[in-house]
Amino acid sequence: MDKKLLEIIFDNLYNGIYVVDGKGVTIGVNKTFEEMSGFTNEELVGRSLYDLVGKDNYFSGSASLLVLERKAPVTATYSTSTKRKLLVKGRPIFNSKGDIDYVINTIWDLTVVQYSREIDADTARNQLLSEDDIITCSNKMMEIIDLALRVAITDSTILLNGESGVGKSLLARTIHRSSERKAKPLVQINCAAIPENLLESELFGYEAGAFTGADHKGKAGLLEMAEGGTVFLDEISELPLHLQAKLLGVIQDKTFFRVGGRTIQHADIRLIAATNKDLVELVSHGLFREDLYYRLNVVPITIPALRERREDIPTLIHHFAEKYNRKYNSYKRFSQSLINQLVGMAWKGNIRELENLVERCIVTCVGDLITPDKARIPGISPALPSGLGLKDMLAERERDILLQAREQYQTSRRVAAALGISQASAARKLKQLNKRKHS
Ligand SMILES: Nc1ncnc2c1ncn2[C@@H]1O[C@H](COP(=O)(O)OP(=O)(O)OP(=O)(O)O)[C@@H](O)[C@H]1O
Ligand SMILES: [Mg+2]
Repeated sequence: MDKKLLEIIFDNLYNGIYVVDGKGVTIGVNKTFEEMSGFTNEELVGRSLYDLVGKDNYFSGSASLLVLERKAPVTATYSTSTKRKLLVKGRPIFNSKGDIDYVINTIWDLTVVQYSREIDADTARNQLLSEDDIITCSNKMMEIIDLALRVAITDSTILLNGESGVGKSLLARTIHRSSERKAKPLVQINCAAIPENLLESELFGYEAGAFTGADHKGKAGLLEMAEGGTVFLDEISELPLHLQAKLLGVIQDKTFFRVGGRTIQHADIRLIAATNKDLVELVSHGLFREDLYYRLNVVPITIPALRERREDIPTLIHHFAEKYNRKYNSYKRFSQSLINQLVGMAWKGNIRELENLVERCIVTCVGDLITPDKARIPGISPALPSGLGLKDMLAERERDILLQAREQYQTSRRVAAALGISQASAARKLKQLNKRKHS
């Protein structure tokens, strides 16, 4: 094909393209990528991704570097400083010696996919992103996920600690899916949710005639159902002491008896336990067995509360806004000033509370832009954000207006017409919108 034509195609693809060499040095990006990222080909070419990636740098992460490290294709999602969400698929191109000559990255702007109101957009998105993705940009969380993925492939018992709603159950699912047991069941038991008198037979099963009202054929318990897979014991602190002893036996000998049973059952399971209580304190009060605590606490993982990683709040707001926009077929977004205020909230209920709040706003607010006035959140001032001067407030309002205009009118010409400003000034302001970074 003619080289000129190839260039035309390169620049007119709907996907962004980012090409690097085998050392991670940028060879070129297409026009679509320039538009998505707000960075130009000129400023990126010749620069190494090792210099471009990092906190407050050009990119928060790089699929290319992962491809070079793993020598295999990689799919990753990134949030840009302009709060867009990009899905990147990186593919290595090997030479005859088996070294990587190039990495070709194809980039989808999920924000646009979502807002373009295309009939097929939902299907496309669903294939690209899984509901169970852990969304984060906090270094603390990334270290935790990294640790979890490293121990996932071992068979070690894991104890997840953290307040309600921080993502313990989500992480337990991730660990199971990343383990060699992934093809086998993940059985989740909430020790607080099952009445104490039923818990034993639920967990361990029972033999025929074990107790009045028991099924005459007997019944397998959850441990047997999880055979070969993972058992996730949520709220482990609520396990009664006599069952703690029985569970200890399962961990130590990998065997147990059904209730009323005499045949030894073998348990090939991986155990993950979770708690939002301080088990050490329960141990000191005699409410939790010390030996079981040590058996469970082989790999302790503590997930920090949301208020200890506030940098995640904007990212999560966008994530859940996308999720519920999709669910309710709406196209709403949170104004920057509302996001700024939400970042400062207490979030006692952590991510669950945040998710519920986002859903409520999407369902109840009228119009496509959710502002502090419309959201009516206790503790969020509807009128004036604190700590900002008039200049900052105006800048923020202007930013909200521009974002909304860009969403509605797409091109700088139409934005200019709608806002009654010159096209040059609209183009300049929209460009600044892309460049501005948020902490
Ligand atoms: N980092 C994250 N990215 C996306 N969704 C998240 C994240 N963390 C938590 N969630 C979502 O928030 C909700 C609460 O998380 P989860 O149920 O895992 O918390 P938990 O710690 O198990 O809470 P509890 O102690 O009440 O059982 C879930 O819907 C989960 O999918
Ligand atoms: Mg849970």
